[in-house]
Amino acid sequence: MPGLIPERFIDELLARIDIVDVVQQRVPLKRAGRDWTACCPFHDERTPSFTVSPAKQFYHCFGCGAHGSAIKFLMEYERLEFPDAVEELAQSVGLAVPHEGGAARPREDHADLYGLLDAAAAFYQRALPDNAAARAYCKKRGLDKDIIERFRIGWAPGGWDALKRALGTSEARLKLLEQAGMLAAGEGGKRYDRFRERLMFPILDRRGRVIAFGGRIISSAPPAREDQEAGSPARTSSVSSAHPAREDQKAGVPARTSQQSPGPKYLNSPETPLFHKGRELFALWQVRQANTKLERLIVVEGYMDVVALHQAGITQAVATLGTATTNEHAELLFRAAPDVFFCFDGDRAGRAAAWRALESVLPRMRDGRQAFFLFLPEGEDPDTLVRKEGRDGFEARLERATPLSEYLYGELARDVNVATLDGRARLAEHALPLLAKLPDGAFRDLMFAELEKRTGFRAADTVPRQPARAARGAASSGSTPRRTLVRSAIAMLLAEPALALHAEPPYPFAALDRPGVALLLELLDVARARPGVNTAILLEHFAGREEASALQKLALTELPGEPEALRAEFLDALRKLGEQTLQQRLDALIRKQSESVLDDAEKSELRELLARKANPAVP
Ligand code: UTP
Ligand code: MN
Repeated sequence: MPGLIPERFIDELLARIDIVDVVQQRVPLKRAGRDWTACCPFHDERTPSFTVSPAKQFYHCFGCGAHGSAIKFLMEYERLEFPDAVEELAQSVGLAVPHEGGAARPREDHADLYGLLDAAAAFYQRALPDNAAARAYCKKRGLDKDIIERFRIGWAPGGWDALKRALGTSEARLKLLEQAGMLAAGEGGKRYDRFRERLMFPILDRRGRVIAFGGRIISSAPPAREDQEAGSPARTSSVSSAHPAREDQKAGVPARTSQQSPGPKYLNSPETPLFHKGRELFALWQVRQANTKLERLIVVEGYMDVVALHQAGITQAVATLGTATTNEHAELLFRAAPDVFFCFDGDRAGRAAAWRALESVLPRMRDGRQAFFLFLPEGEDPDTLVRKEGRDGFEARLERATPLSEYLYGELARDVNVATLDGRARLAEHALPLLAKLPDGAFRDLMFAELEKRTGFRAADTVPRQPARAARGAASSGSTPRRTLVRSAIAMLLAEPALALHAEPPYPFAALDRPGVALLLELLDVARARPGVNTAILLEHFAGREEASALQKLALTELPGEPEALRAEFLDALRKLGEQTLQQRLDALIRKQSESVLDDAEKSELRELLARKANPAVP
């Protein structure tokens, strides 16, 4: 798909923008010689190993190996797809993104999907006032008009095809409905509305676009939740990861008798091109709308919990979508706010979910970030509680929430007897793998100090710091590629693409059978075809290809800084490659000759090569 944005536009864009600006707007950079540095935004570290090169127009982290152009940076940092990152950068410099192929524009599909999902949300919104049962249910749950609007809550009508009929007015639109996860397939492949007779909660992405839905049945006797985690709260990482995430039900085959079998209490959209539930947080958009400066986020389990909290004026509540907290969630949460409060039911499932959340945030606990855990009384959830105790009551509970360190040690100490040496040893044994996940920083040191206080066990020196040190070790030792002529030539060309203009095809080394030659030829072609390209543009050309990471490494090679010296060295490398090519051909012909299978042409070629070798001055 990205290919449909013309490559010359990508070149132009990358030539127009300055990666230092792009990064600087998101990550504060410090000057370090010719480059700029910062603590890497893609992994946790205490000392900066993330550098941005204005000359090469790319970033590289010597700690975790993250690297790329400004486009790649936006994709990674803002979690954008390629076309969206291009779009955003283009907008920032006032360029319009052209698309090749007229009507079949690549983003048209996604634009259509967004449009369709928005239309679906509007359809459900319109249907809500018309349905007495749905209205009564909203009233029963205490939802006021304003909150219904803010969250675009709606109603999916009954029957099998209300939405399908309303929006699936052409073959193309039907296809989109299906892609968007709004239809389900019955026996014989018949398509029908996935959501029927449900209160609908649209799920918005970080730009406020509808990407999916959750729908709740409103029948008075909801079926028991079918997705509980079994077992007790996990105490160690190995045990807890055995607990399945709280998954929502797969949409089943249409029940013949929908009245008797209404399906799960909440039904969520399936994974679609737009929706990956492990990456989305319900209501993050509404939170951003309601708060200009976000100091905290409150993570709750349910749609209704979020809505009730917002309605009560606690507008920092978000929810994961029927799944356990993933590492991606943790990153999203802390990127949005420094303090994150996790609210869980006090029951076993809630405690298991809390432990999962703890594990997912550990690697993200950079200095300045805090995580808290709030357990609610049995039988309550944030929705019921905030309606009972009001905003102030809930705030008071948040104030008393358990800090991560206390929660972690409290859980680990639960079933060991710390009065005994053996118990303390077991506590340390369980704590170490968890503490090892913490990034460098004061918090990590404090957590180890706490372990020592509780167990007498001094571990700080024995546990390798994660992940920065390990990664850095790997990057600086074994993985440095051996220097060869081909590699050197590529490295020089990457550093200074204009060198390609000094080499004219046909290249005397084109036939050389050595690793990397094809790549060198391709680089020469690309660089010659687009005078003025910089390092990042050249690298971008290979983005997504197997060679990309090797090229990235080569682009970091230290080279003579003087343009003259660089050019001389480059041309010398090409000349030597040419000589190697001749030698290789000569060797092959001589081998063939010894088997006496040379034809006439080859014989004369051999004679010529031998003559040239004897007298290299002859061209
Ligand atoms: P709960 O069962 O705790 O429901 O599910 P709730 O949020 O309190 O909902 P109400 O108050 O009964 O309306 C918590 C969350 O788990 C997911 C949903 O995201 C839900 O909000 N879930 C639950 C599902 O995905 N499927 C289900 O069948 C049940
Ligand atoms: Mn509830």
